[in-house]
Amino acid sequence: MAILRSSSICTAFILLVSPVLFQASLARSLDGHWNPKNPSCPTTIFNFGDSLSDTGNVNLVFPFISDPENPPYGEKFFGRPARRFCNGRLVIDFIAIAFGFPLLDPHTLTVAHNYAHGANFAYAGATSSRDNFFVPFYLGLQTAQFLRFKSLTLAAQQEDDAFEDFNRYLPEASSFSSALYTIGIGGNDFLSSFFRMENPQQIINEKVPLAVQGIVDAVKILYQQDARNFLIYNVPPEGCSSVFLTVFRDLGLPKDDLGCLLPVNLVNQAFNAALYKAIQDLRSSLPGVTISQFDYYSANLEILKNPATYGFNPALTQTTCCGAPGQGSFNYNLNITCGHPGSSACSNADEYVIWDGIHFTEAFYRVIAKFVLNGQYVDPPVNLTSECNLSFENFGQTTYSETFPGGSLLL
Ligand SMILES: *[C@@H]1O[C@H](CO)[C@@H](O)[C@H](O)[C@H]1NC(C)=O
Ligand SMILES: *[C@@H]1O[C@H](CO)[C@@H](O)[C@H](O)[C@H]1NC(C)=O
Ligand SMILES: *[C@@H]1O[C@H](CO)[C@@H](O)[C@H](O)[C@H]1NC(C)=O
Repeated sequence: MAILRSSSICTAFILLVSPVLFQASLARSLDGHWNPKNPSCPTTIFNFGDSLSDTGNVNLVFPFISDPENPPYGEKFFGRPARRFCNGRLVIDFIAIAFGFPLLDPHTLTVAHNYAHGANFAYAGATSSRDNFFVPFYLGLQTAQFLRFKSLTLAAQQEDDAFEDFNRYLPEASSFSSALYTIGIGGNDFLSSFFRMENPQQIINEKVPLAVQGIVDAVKILYQQDARNFLIYNVPPEGCSSVFLTVFRDLGLPKDDLGCLLPVNLVNQAFNAALYKAIQDLRSSLPGVTISQFDYYSANLEILKNPATYGFNPALTQTTCCGAPGQGSFNYNLNITCGHPGSSACSNADEYVIWDGIHFTEAFYRVIAKFVLNGQYVDPPVNLTSECNLSFENFGQTTYSETFPGGSLLL
């Protein structure tokens, strides 16, 4: 994909964060707020998306039924199931750690939440478009939930005396305009079509425009609410995942040179191209907006093409770590999925790209997070690591308590 230029993310941060606001955050840091290293960098992140970034919303609104309630989900880093569709941390977790923030709490957390540095509105299973959803929390509803969160936060801060004890766990009023808004969604919009074996061209004609429009609408609504800094992820190649390679194994579908299913990836490519174009249009129609786009698709392909460079076993890039044999050759069995009796996890998950057939391993997300923060596969290529003096020091830490001394995570 071609590279498009616009004003850099950090230029916009510098314009938006005045010294007065910086002093306000310093003052509040005494109350437990983070003390920003660089006043031009965000102190708050609001995230929207699906299972690639859900840190617990689905688990909290649909208790006791989602796979990540069961071991071995979360075994790495958290040491127990941690509401995430992963063996450990997600990209959004690594981003929070690099910024020195607490992990981003799901907005539905009713006990011991800390939203001082942002909140997560992502739901596993969520689609961008309202059409065809699995869970009701499509992107439009996530943005509506954000609007309610914002209005309640501002109202509570108007009555600081009454809510003094609570307000320190809420974002500052000024941070809604300076925050980084991250959006990664779209992969689920095509799943039901894939499973119904719809023709790729039909999906591209009918579903792709709706999925892209969902993201466009969300950006416009957030922009009207003073959001100015966005990071938008496109979708990774779903045709490379063990679930599709297993379920469609006997259909003789064409594969690309990496052994991924072409018809599936063609739909993802069409979505990504349309999203890219839509983001260009948003940049020209929304004055003062800064939108960085992370090319998840190309970053994922780079890892599949050169797995050893990133620490992955070249023989295992399409194999599920946590699953069961019995169907095809990727250790994925639709009847015996990760977290259910009969499945088991590999002992060397860091060598695997794929965790449970659909979702990725912590090791994969760690590499992706470094790409995102270093400005690789990011358009325009803003290097947050250097601009914001971020640190990867804790990326390898093996436990939550080592990474957050004195901190605690209710699970
Ligand atoms: C950057 O961060 C390191 C610690 O990670 C710190 O020692 C250094 O002073 C920071 N530099 C600036 C310019 O804030
Ligand atoms: C999986 O379940 C389906 C329906 O329950 C059954 O027809 C099929 O034989 C099962 N496959 C395996 C490998 O157990
Ligand atoms: C981004 O900045 C970091 C820290 O200065 C540096 O190590 C990294 O190579 C940079 N990334 C790119 C793509 O230039």
